[in-house]
Amino acid sequence: MRKINIFDTTLRDGEQSAGVNLNFSEKLEIAKQLERLNVDIIEAGFPAASKGDFSSVQAIAQTIKNCSVTGLARSVKSDIDAAWEALKDGVEPRLHVFIATSPIHRDYKLKLSKEQVIETAVETVKYAAERFPVVQWSAEDACRTELPYLAQIVEAVIQAGAKVVNIPDTVGYITPKEYGDIFTYLRENVPSIDGVSLSAHCHDDLGMAIANSLSAIEHGATQVEGAINGIGERAGNAALEEFAVALYTRKDYYKAETRLVLNEISRTSSLVSKLTGMIVPANKAVVGRNAFAHESGIHQDGVLKEKTTYEIISPDLVGFQSNSMVLGKHSGRHAFKTRLQELGFTIPDEEIKHLFTVFKDMADRKKEMTDEDLVAIVLEERLSTEQRFYDLTSIQVQYGTNQVPTATVTLTGFHNKIIQEAAPGSGSIEALYNTLERCLQAPVKLLDFRIQSVGKGRDALAQVYVKLRYQETETSGRGLAQDVLEASAKAYLNAINRVIYLNGKAKAEPVAQTQ
Ligand code: KIV
Ligand code: ZN
Repeated sequence: MRKINIFDTTLRDGEQSAGVNLNFSEKLEIAKQLERLNVDIIEAGFPAASKGDFSSVQAIAQTIKNCSVTGLARSVKSDIDAAWEALKDGVEPRLHVFIATSPIHRDYKLKLSKEQVIETAVETVKYAAERFPVVQWSAEDACRTELPYLAQIVEAVIQAGAKVVNIPDTVGYITPKEYGDIFTYLRENVPSIDGVSLSAHCHDDLGMAIANSLSAIEHGATQVEGAINGIGERAGNAALEEFAVALYTRKDYYKAETRLVLNEISRTSSLVSKLTGMIVPANKAVVGRNAFAHESGIHQDGVLKEKTTYEIISPDLVGFQSNSMVLGKHSGRHAFKTRLQELGFTIPDEEIKHLFTVFKDMADRKKEMTDEDLVAIVLEERLSTEQRFYDLTSIQVQYGTNQVPTATVTLTGFHNKIIQEAAPGSGSIEALYNTLERCLQAPVKLLDFRIQSVGKGRDALAQVYVKLRYQETETSGRGLAQDVLEASAKAYLNAINRVIYLNGKAKAEPVAQTQ
């Protein structure tokens, strides 16, 4: 079996998904889960992009011990310096430096000649290799680059010190056969190719990211890059869980394996979905709610007689368990803490005290508290705490079929100021959001609103995601509560609090662009 390295870019390319805005604690929590999943490399962010990105990459590099942590840099020395500062304390500091190589990018974006692009790439790889033990170099838009030129620049960066060469399909344009042919071409035309690891990085614009990644490993790639749940720019990146399970299920054909702990997939997918607000479609391969549901009578009959008639992946393989009741309102703090530890959370006692109060409050109203509920409480309470500038004190909404819905809201604002307002709307949520906007005394544009139940049953918790624009900043927020209106109000305030936090931190900070 050949070993394929998994390079996870959920926190960098994945976080570039429209509307996704993870905070420091959320990024750290995802990185810890990626470590449990046992990916080989975590791309934690783009340190030169902002102070926020820098500190989260640094914290992840200092915390993660079983994976290599990397950060992205453009081909400029200041980006490499920032990345070094952020990554130097990691177990194996690794730099991911890129430059665009295709004629479209060279002529229109970079305005550099072929020779100038090679010169810049070589100079920056040399500079990086003086600091980092491992330098990965990427040819942005490699798949629309002239092959002889791609081979020439790849040879030059290997000579300059690159240890991993990545061939991204930046715009999701290539087909599996063509992508495989690029790897074959490079292996046949780059003299020093044997000394490096070749990596595949595919976007899903034409729905071919997984097929392309698999084709790359058939043609010599030893590393595959992607994001959990396939999140990322536009149509997203290759979904790592799909790639890993395809390789495992068809190892007879691919004769290759990853070191992923496959039964951590479900938990990782759910964590990423909850924190990014990017809901996993029910029919999504490997992690969708229906991925293991057999609906037709013929299928059910077959599965009851012999599972493998219609099931090529077992739900246990990827960690799907039936969500049994684990705790209730009579459970004690010790049992609560132990279960959270079993779910992978290490939480200091002072925080457990607060979380336990929230748990008890919910358990009073909801008979069965499942693992999913516990995870939702921890994520909600723990990962949003540093950003509460406005807090919800109470809401009251009046609704009747022949009445104008009206909401009354009380908030605690800056300096513990109590703010109270009321407003009508054409529906309950609109009345609530009109009232909250009145409390803030500034325009807020709601761009997206989504509601999902946590688990099953009539008393399931409500999880709401919103995307909004406030103070000229677009961001997302999430809220959890037993009641949909309360969850809606919390999600809205969570987004507002994030904007205030981001704008407060972003003052005088240059934001670099990757694309
Ligand atoms: O898609 C892409 O080209 C990238 C590079 C920065 C590697 O994400
Ligand atoms: Zn990408």
